[in-house]
Amino acid sequence: MMKYNFPKDFWWGSAVSGPQTEGVFPGDNKGDSTWDYWYKQKPELFFDQVGPEKTSYTYLRFKEDVQLLKETGHNSFRTSIQWSRLIPTGDGEVNQDAVRFYNEYIDELIANDIEPFINLYHFDMPMSLMEKGGWESRATVEAYVRYAKICFELFGDRVKKWFTNNEPIVPVEGGYLYQFHYPAIVDLRKAIQVGYHENLASAMAISAYRQLNLDGEIGIILNLTPSYPRDVNNPEDVKASIICDAFFNRSFLDPAIKGTFPQELIDIVKELGMLPEYEANDLDIIKENTVELLGVNYYHPRRVKAKETPKNPLIPMPDDYFDMYDMPNKKMNPYRGWEIYERGVYDLLINLRDNYGNIPCFISENGMGVENEARFIKEDGSIEDDYRIDFVAGHLRYVHDALQEGSNVKGYHMWTAIDNWSWTNAYKNRYGFVSVDIDNEGKRTIKKSGHWFKTVADNNGFDN
Ligand code: BG6
Repeated sequence: MMKYNFPKDFWWGSAVSGPQTEGVFPGDNKGDSTWDYWYKQKPELFFDQVGPEKTSYTYLRFKEDVQLLKETGHNSFRTSIQWSRLIPTGDGEVNQDAVRFYNEYIDELIANDIEPFINLYHFDMPMSLMEKGGWESRATVEAYVRYAKICFELFGDRVKKWFTNNEPIVPVEGGYLYQFHYPAIVDLRKAIQVGYHENLASAMAISAYRQLNLDGEIGIILNLTPSYPRDVNNPEDVKASIICDAFFNRSFLDPAIKGTFPQELIDIVKELGMLPEYEANDLDIIKENTVELLGVNYYHPRRVKAKETPKNPLIPMPDDYFDMYDMPNKKMNPYRGWEIYERGVYDLLINLRDNYGNIPCFISENGMGVENEARFIKEDGSIEDDYRIDFVAGHLRYVHDALQEGSNVKGYHMWTAIDNWSWTNAYKNRYGFVSVDIDNEGKRTIKKSGHWFKTVADNNGFDN
């Protein structure tokens, strides 16, 4: 018996997304997403000017990749369907090349005893819909629900775990507040509308899924950042952390699981006069179509203190209500600049147990990005990434603690399987169990962490 033993059928695996792995190839009939468009417009915004067409060549190499998943112990694996691959204009004809590709990819996973977890939206708005407003527009919600239904009908006979959206807060933050996603504007009113439409679209897709009576489950994947106040005995710090939590976590967590929006957020939005445009029965749709499975992406916490700096002079912003607190002596990932706080994963799981009906959940992303990891490559091509093993084991110990205390956590997926392209960061931060040499046609090599993960998955646990 292992010291950290996990329940039978625990999901061991990792996550990727379509746009970060597949690549774009002549004749594949893929339409542009906002990323393809933005890169063509402004390559200088992308790290080393590497754009989304390069990625890791999975469109061509998925069979080899599935073997690598096996060799690194996966019994489950998440990727996403690219909306702009399946329906190049977002709301028009279905691309039969994409249908063939996703069918073959899904079948290959199943043939290798790896359960496919399929996500529908991972930051990748088809450009032709973005030109009409993207998530700002109600028409996009309708187009998304049609797209979701097409996916369920095409692949739902074999895919049993569906997710409507990955990290829906990120397009809100990145596109409309802090300018790291297209359209990179600063507009809180639009940000609120976008977040509202993403919530509504998710509920409508869940409704569509249930109407089809397929044999499977549907959920959402949220990046949760536990908000810790600087001083738990200072009511102003505590209040600030509650507002920060409402903006960045509960804005999606509450509607997804409880079917309602947090009152703190409603109060702020009303006070600002920024309630989104909505239709009469929207709130009923959200109330009635909550998720049955939650994916939790956890990377780092947020340390929060009462607002000390001046508010933004021109435009209201979430951070008018709190400041970030630079806690001394926190443990850092020296390569990515994010705090490492393993206990955060336990706090999240216990919060779900106590305040969200102990919903079935799993860790759907957790990982350690390392800049310029190639410097650690040995002569034989291997990478001794002991720091990643420590990172994963450190978090798994806390997942184990939460399990002992009754958490309904069903698995652990790392970000990521095979080093992949990341939005404007391109190949800067490497996260994979397997390295990729992008200058050498994407040659793959399993890292030490990948071999270690296989022993953990095979033993369903580990000793220290
Ligand atoms: C996660 C996203 O939050 O962070 C991924 O779901 C992303 O899509 C990952 O690649 C790592 O991001 P970065 O910026 O460190 O490359």
